[in-house]
Amino acid sequence: MALKAEGMTAAVPVWKRVSVAVGAVSLATVAGLWQPRVVAASPAQDPDPGSAEFYQQKVKPIFAANCFRCHGGENHRGGLTFDTQAGLLKGGHDGAVVVVGHPEQSLLVKLIRHEGPADDPMPMPPKGDKLSDADIATVSAWIKAGAKIPDAAQ
Ligand code: HEC
Repeated sequence: MALKAEGMTAAVPVWKRVSVAVGAVSLATVAGLWQPRVVAASPAQDPDPGSAEFYQQKVKPIFAANCFRCHGGENHRGGLTFDTQAGLLKGGHDGAVVVVGHPEQSLLVKLIRHEGPADDPMPMPPKGDKLSDADIATVSAWIKAGAKIPDAAQ
């Protein structure tokens, strides 16, 4: 008896093991039933482009990977630091870089779309690959929704 009780499996009564198994099966069934709805709903699960989450999760990683080494913290090429709301709104040597609510009029968007001036200011980032269409769409959606940079992101 003592030996048997030491083994975990042997210690669990049979009815409990059965109910765990039944639980697993019904969970799997529920997951199976719900999956199509979850997939269909996933675009709506993205944070709202005007929310702090959207900046933190979607926009900031794009800027951090492609821009902040020249436009973040102490770095202000072209007179522009845009890792803070104040810096973004201040703009650079050529003035405002975002027209809040209007990505198509925003210099920042024109430059990442390579639709701005060819040389001054030049397309951004200046070297390397153009941002992907998906990243440009993310930045545009964010400017359209208010170009908010939450304080916590600074
Ligand atoms: C390797 C450094 C570097 C990187 C990386 C870089 N920039 Fe720039 N950026 C510059 C320089 C230098 C200027 C000034 C260019 C000029 O005036 O012709 C500038 C200018 C700008 C301007 C215009 C400021 C003004 O008022 O003239 C914008 C907007 C801008 N960058 C956005 C971005 C964005 C968005 C990214 C990332 C996608 C980025 N930059 C990445 C170096 C960089």
